[in-house]
Amino acid sequence: MSRSRRRLPAPEKIPERCRPQRPARPRAASGRAGHNVSVIADLTKAAALDRAGPAPADRTRTDAAPADRADVSDAAARAAFPDWRFAPNIGGRPDVYEIENRAVDSGGHVLAAMRTLAPWDGLDLVDLGCGTGYWLARYAEHASTVLGIEPDPVLRAAAAERASDLPRTSVLAGSAERLPLPSGSADVVHARFAYFLAPGGDAGLAEVLRVLRPGGSLVVVDNDYRWGQFAELLAGASADPPQRTAAAIDAWWRERGAIRREVRSELRFGNQADLAAVLHIELPGAVAASWLARNPAAAALTYGYVLFAVGRAAPGPASGKAASDPR
Ligand SMILES: C[S@@+](CC[C@H](N)C(=O)[O-])C[C@H]1O[C@@H](n2cnc3c(N)ncnc32)[C@H](O)[C@@H]1O
Repeated sequence: MSRSRRRLPAPEKIPERCRPQRPARPRAASGRAGHNVSVIADLTKAAALDRAGPAPADRTRTDAAPADRADVSDAAARAAFPDWRFAPNIGGRPDVYEIENRAVDSGGHVLAAMRTLAPWDGLDLVDLGCGTGYWLARYAEHASTVLGIEPDPVLRAAAAERASDLPRTSVLAGSAERLPLPSGSADVVHARFAYFLAPGGDAGLAEVLRVLRPGGSLVVVDNDYRWGQFAELLAGASADPPQRTAAAIDAWWRERGAIRREVRSELRFGNQADLAAVLHIELPGAVAASWLARNPAAAALTYGYVLFAVGRAAPGPASGKAASDPR
């Protein structure tokens, strides 16, 4: 990663408990994300799940990896990254998750909010839990360097394939809790749908803060469990009331000095078949089927996001803000 860079806006001083306790142990086809269909199709064969099997409840659900992934070094990855939690949606059906990523935030509202919280132009950016690397190309348009980190060997292989077509972009094995990066080497860390950075994720958060430069920021994208049609579906798929889930997540981040932003957007597909496929990787089959039966012509649904940003305090009198808070 390059060493000369523009500084981020002065970050807010974060509580002591958010600082790194001690250093832990230690890249889309053709230049655009979302088009490397052959790679994703190959991966789908490698990671294929029986669609008739249990469907994931939501992006936060983490089941055991399917047995037919044993030939792709899952055991070695588990030994190296014991905190890796298999993502059944993208891990089980990377081809369908690709469709979902294309449908997510077609208006670019989430990306815009991420940029406002922590601009990355000319800076060193890490995409933590990068999956198949769908977002690497977008980040590489403006970042100085982009590094995707992914513990899942199957997904990481797809991300590395994508990175090979991108400027200043690479992919490494790692997890939130074990980042293969020197302390103070990144300006911005992104984590999209990072269930590993949520209540219980202090080890990962400490490790992320270790690798951030003073003045650097972490931006996490989570579901809004309170707003939108997708939130209603999540509520129908979970035993926990959404208000309680949302309150616990909000409190955890608040206690760690995070800025919170809501973004109201939509999942918009080209046809209902794509929408149906995505609902079936995110929700139990009965919940997905019931919604689809009640909305037979739908090719979109409203989707709310909550973004959390924490910064690593910059030295000197200027320190005093968490990430770039425009308010
Ligand atoms: C819901 S997927 C999102 C993937 C990607 N961020 C995207 O938006 O396309 C969550 C990702 O986090 C990865 N993951 C799981 N446990 C992790 C951990 N402890 N540290 C970092 N990444 C992890 C999964 O392998 C998966 O790629």
